[in-house]
Amino acid sequence: MSGRVARRCTAVPQSVTVALNDRVKELRARGTEVLDIGGGDPGFDTPGHISAAASDALFAGFTHYTASRGLPELRQAISEKLRRDNGVEAAPDTQILVTPSSKHALFTALMATLDPGDEVLVPTPSWGSYRSMARLAGAVPVCVELSARDAFTVTRSRLEEHVSPRTKVLVLNTPNNPTGRVLGAPEADTIAAFAAEHDLLIITDEIYEKILFSGEHLSMAARPDCADRTVTVNGFSKGYAMPGWRLGYAAGPPDIISAMLAVHQHTVACAGSFVQTGGVAALRGPQGPLREAVRAYAARAGLVTRRLNELVGVVCPAPAGTFYAFADISGTGIPDGDEFAERLLAEAAVAVTPGSAFGPGGRGHIRVSFTAGPRVLEEALARLAAFVRDRAPGRPAPSTRM
Ligand SMILES: Cc1ncc(COP(=O)(O)O)c(C=O)c1O
Repeated sequence: MSGRVARRCTAVPQSVTVALNDRVKELRARGTEVLDIGGGDPGFDTPGHISAAASDALFAGFTHYTASRGLPELRQAISEKLRRDNGVEAAPDTQILVTPSSKHALFTALMATLDPGDEVLVPTPSWGSYRSMARLAGAVPVCVELSARDAFTVTRSRLEEHVSPRTKVLVLNTPNNPTGRVLGAPEADTIAAFAAEHDLLIITDEIYEKILFSGEHLSMAARPDCADRTVTVNGFSKGYAMPGWRLGYAAGPPDIISAMLAVHQHTVACAGSFVQTGGVAALRGPQGPLREAVRAYAARAGLVTRRLNELVGVVCPAPAGTFYAFADISGTGIPDGDEFAERLLAEAAVAVTPGSAFGPGGRGHIRVSFTAGPRVLEEALARLAAFVRDRAPGRPAPSTRM
């Protein structure tokens, strides 16, 4: 039967990171000790007070549907958090939607705003799901390729090169996966002016907001004249180490949140009830565990960038946030990021993510994640260093396939 699978699905490539994960599992099943520094799952367990709150709710029978927009108490806590931390005003009853994951908030926002053929500007390198979700929504992702040469800064001219009368949405991510950059104030002002001029909606993904080592986190919705055109997406997976809970949220203008509610009601109805209770505990409870995790990530960021920059042919800027370092490996004996990652896994049993997974601008790079603890990280970096040294230009190729 032809056409059995919808075109919207065949247009979406398989996730590079999922494929990498499968390969890691396959090698492990064959007995190879693979060190995985490629993934995005925080290495910490969810703080106990959050799990306790959810577990108490679960055992108390809080196992029914909640209000579709989300538990009123959680929406209130999110609204307070947005005002306190971000300078963003969002009314709990009309401007906030609690979703099962920030990924789902992003998808719902795109489904609610895009018509077939609309174009979405996606600065790259960035998380591959933005492009795939835009395609699933029937829209056309248009990559705005940023360059390592100017520190992946979003500039007016780069945006102007890609905007068209069909452009409707601009997707931003700060702090950025994979580069670890945070949006600067002049850049945010440039984007705000550009969005106003072309009447664009901004969907901003701020999931790594709390994992910040230097600089300041800026929310686009707090920039002058941006509130009415910005949907802010955030979640609990990264900072609060709750990826398996699947809890996120969106805040934005009431008409867009209402449209998102329609998508949400007919797909998931609401986020998990006791999971949302955990979300309230995360936002309102002690923030010490989060601060401790960020201190650990900051130390690891220093270790990773130091070790990578010691290697001939590797350049790795210090990330300002996230738990990723994005290294330019184009000066090594294996200048192509895909080949580098593939051979590093096959020959040294270390998994990193090739930069091409993050779209144009990512070639010649690898993303190293420092979610793993110091022991794994040290060993993985030592293997990576030996791999680069042994394959330096001009050296005979070693034959160490695993
Ligand atoms: C930039 C970015 N946004 C969103 C997500 C997904 O977050 P969640 O677990 O809330 O769906 C990820 C996960 O890797 C991410 O890197």
